Amino acid sequence: MVSQFSHSEIQVEARSLRLRYAHGEKLACQVEELHLARGQCLILCGPSGSGKSSLLHLINGLVPEYYPGEIEGSLRIGQLSYQEASVERLAKQVASVFQNPTTQFFHQEVLQELVFPCENQGMTHGAISERLAEITEVFRLEQLLQQNLEHLSGGQKQVVAIATAAMQGTDIMVFDEPTANLDAIGVKRVQELLLALKKQGKTLIIAEHRLAYLTEIADFYAYFYEGQLLEQLPAPDFMAYSEEKRAEWGLRTTDLIPYQARVKDLAHVFTNDQAGLELHQFRVYHHGDYLYQLDQLVLAPGQVVGLIGANGSGKTSFARSLVGLEGDKTGPVNWKGQVLHARKRLAKMAYVMQDVRQQLVTEQVEKELSLGRASDKLDYEVLRAFRLTQLLDRHPMSLSLGEQQRLMIAASLLSDKEIIILDEPSSGLDREQMEQLATQLQYLKAKGKLVLLISHDDELLARVCDKVVNIRYEGV
Ligand SMILES: Nc1ncnc2c1ncn2[C@@H]1O[C@H](COP(=O)(O)OP(=O)(O)O)[C@@H](O)[C@H]1O
Ligand SMILES: [Mg+2]
Repeated sequence: MVSQFSHSEIQVEARSLRLRYAHGEKLACQVEELHLARGQCLILCGPSGSGKSSLLHLINGLVPEYYPGEIEGSLRIGQLSYQEASVERLAKQVASVFQNPTTQFFHQEVLQELVFPCENQGMTHGAISERLAEITEVFRLEQLLQQNLEHLSGGQKQVVAIATAAMQGTDIMVFDEPTANLDAIGVKRVQELLLALKKQGKTLIIAEHRLAYLTEIADFYAYFYEGQLLEQLPAPDFMAYSEEKRAEWGLRTTDLIPYQARVKDLAHVFTNDQAGLELHQFRVYHHGDYLYQLDQLVLAPGQVVGLIGANGSGKTSFARSLVGLEGDKTGPVNWKGQVLHARKRLAKMAYVMQDVRQQLVTEQVEKELSLGRASDKLDYEVLRAFRLTQLLDRHPMSLSLGEQQRLMIAASLLSDKEIIILDEPSSGLDREQMEQLATQLQYLKAKGKLVLLISHDDELLARVCDKVVNIRYEGV
């Protein structure tokens, strides 16, 4: 379909490409035909597990070097093909950016991190300085250069990861869910950087669930389903499909504006919040350091309340302070007319962390569900609602992130907690996973729980919240 390009312009070309991982039963990635010309941007979309990352790993060489597997067919990248090039040679033409930037940093200081790939390639001092000056200007990095990576926000870290990839000077760049952990400001910045890279003539391949920020950048969309590239469509053809059609394909929205408007409205919803959670002059701490005061928050049970605010606005610190992890210096927490002291709060409240794996303590799902429960009998209605019946014998660490999250929410429900706090549960969720989470939160609400949902995902917030509270604290 992209045959209008002359051969020399083609940067990435796959034919009858098939990947089976060493330990996988099914084909993980199957691409009959794919072409991408120099300077174009291809978006890989489709549900989780559909083969997007696998294709990126074939392109950047992580497969088969780090993830061994059997490859059939042909893949040409730049002037090299699999048959003739080693992984190192292929990888020299491709720079990669992943979902979680911290996994790819080697240094503490931003400047050191940026020049590292160039030093690695043996570039001269002069050439490195030149490239650094260019990238610093294009990406507006002056303020960041001397900073310690650990002190940056998630969004800033991802900016550094993208800039570091750009420093490699490759024509081709691949991105695997680069915004999965970012708030709206972070997403906007990534969007700017991608546009700048496109302007420089880079060939970009981006796997994403969040499609809305990419509409200005995309030239083509490749739709993956169950390990197969089903269709490569030019952007206008893809956008011509209705939102409903894309929803049927399991894709998230391309237009966030209605959801953002709804979230704004939800911030002004008035509900009669008596006899629930009551905080007055509540002091929020971050590992012992005072951050800010929340003047008043009064919330009734039986609702889902979104807690919003930019990355670094203190939402997680609020959650930790609320559940008692910062002690009683926060000031009192009232629940249904009674004061809950810090030590007692975790008996009433469940806190499901963003990295839920840190909270799993047993070696079996069933045992995990029995923690903190008086009776031995499992409530099958809850197990069914959270689709855990088939998983009872599994080791919690063998579950996918979504399954682990379901397990933790179900466990908090079974142990009779009345307030359930979820910290950014939607990073990296595809459409179906987001809809399932929304259904589960509705279930908690119907059981009379107060659900506090910390999130920067407007699509999820708009679908599920009864109201939204803005945590306004600005930066440390
Ligand atoms: N390293 C691996 N070893 C074995 N199977 C894998 C590996 N990585 C991914 N898979 C499997 O390959 C299929 C495609 O996964 P992936 O490419 O990660 O999808 P996506 O990026 O679209 O979520 C899935 O069935 C997944 O379980
Ligand atoms: Mg993936």
